[in-house]
Amino acid sequence: MTAFDTSKSAALYEEARKVMPGGNTRHTVFRVPHQVYAERGEGCRIIDIDGNSRIDAVGNFTSLIHGYGCEAIRVAAREQLEKGFCFGMATPGEVALSQLLVERLPSVEHVRYTNSGTEAVMNTIKVARAFTGRAKIAKCEGAYHGTFDVAETSQEARPENWGDIDEPKSVATAAGTPQGVLDDVIVIPFNNVEVAERILRAKGNDLAAVLVDVMPNRAGLVPASPEFLQMLRTVTQEIGALLIFDEVITFRLGYNGAQGHYGINPDLTALGKIIGGGFPIGAVAGRRDVMAVYDPSIGSPKVQHGGTFSANPMSMVAGLACMEALTPACFDHLDALGDYFQTQMQALLDELGLEAQITGLGSLRRIHLTRSELSDFRSTVLANAEGARKVVQLSRILFDEGVIIAANGLICFSTVMSFADVDEIVMAFRRALPRLE
Ligand SMILES: Cc1ncc(COP(=O)(O)O)c(C=O)c1O
Repeated sequence: MTAFDTSKSAALYEEARKVMPGGNTRHTVFRVPHQVYAERGEGCRIIDIDGNSRIDAVGNFTSLIHGYGCEAIRVAAREQLEKGFCFGMATPGEVALSQLLVERLPSVEHVRYTNSGTEAVMNTIKVARAFTGRAKIAKCEGAYHGTFDVAETSQEARPENWGDIDEPKSVATAAGTPQGVLDDVIVIPFNNVEVAERILRAKGNDLAAVLVDVMPNRAGLVPASPEFLQMLRTVTQEIGALLIFDEVITFRLGYNGAQGHYGINPDLTALGKIIGGGFPIGAVAGRRDVMAVYDPSIGSPKVQHGGTFSANPMSMVAGLACMEALTPACFDHLDALGDYFQTQMQALLDELGLEAQITGLGSLRRIHLTRSELSDFRSTVLANAEGARKVVQLSRILFDEGVIIAANGLICFSTVMSFADVDEIVMAFRRALPRLE
């Protein structure tokens, strides 16, 4: 906070520092010189406690697909609030939301809820281990799957510790991660069919599952090649491992999720974000025979799973309202917004003569300050060391210019946005990009 900063947010942040580490409880929203506190959302905008309004092009990290104030979600949540917001009993909403998910996701027959995407991924791994009787999991280098140690492995790997591309090392993200955890995670290079296949076949007998996000944000937001996914599908079947899609973000790519887009059916899918309509949620979903490890109606289940707030009725009814409002026409609109942004931004980058590019698909795009070809995590890190620092700076300048994007350059569109809103975002880039140092 500067000596001249008399904002309410700056003052509140001083109070926060006394009771929270660094005044923060969520690294992804941390800002320097101080946090900025939201008061309310309207349409696709957030108004902070000082009355500043900004376009929200993050949507609570891609979860708010209808922005703020979707009437159907509000009504559903209000009605449930009056009836009771949590019970130690099943509620009708969980059945209705599961029916919708089973109907939309081609590979899904049964669903089970958690409170976050992190827990959903964690549970897919437990299910895969219980189903196969094997311990090891393979995941792609650089991919983010939530904040627990198995899934975090090699998410922050760097050239000095990531090892040879033919045999990527399992690198801890959190200090203190036990070596045993790392030993059970096999790291494969994203989009590298030949190397990944060789590693998977070599570890085949020990592998419970291969976990993949088909367009991993932190690893570059580069879509998986169809060949890579097809190889994963074929090899997992041959070695007796399960294929897990982490669709916590990518479910917003299409009416039938990313799996519908690629036409590949995983055995298990981790869900979260949009399926809660803005309320906390996660879900494990997949093949009936695999999900049977949870089934308490046939005796003691192989995997125990409760959770005080799992399938809480607020998330169930809000999620159902959100998903019902998410029609095929909404996806056409989201795709059109994303494509329009891409075209407008490319024209701006060319005009400014900047070494930059936009990756992503549909409503998810990411700016990189490099023109090098990006195919995976390593190419993104290597091409982008200086650029990544500048993207963080860019996100800060854009914030001052009235547009919120993620610090890594992720931009996400919601159904309440119009082409005029995209123009406003691009105009903010036009003002912000020349200010980069
Ligand atoms: C691909 C992916 N998986 C899992 C998660 C974890 O979800 P949550 O933040 O709800 O725990 C995230 C969160 O951003 C994610 O992007």
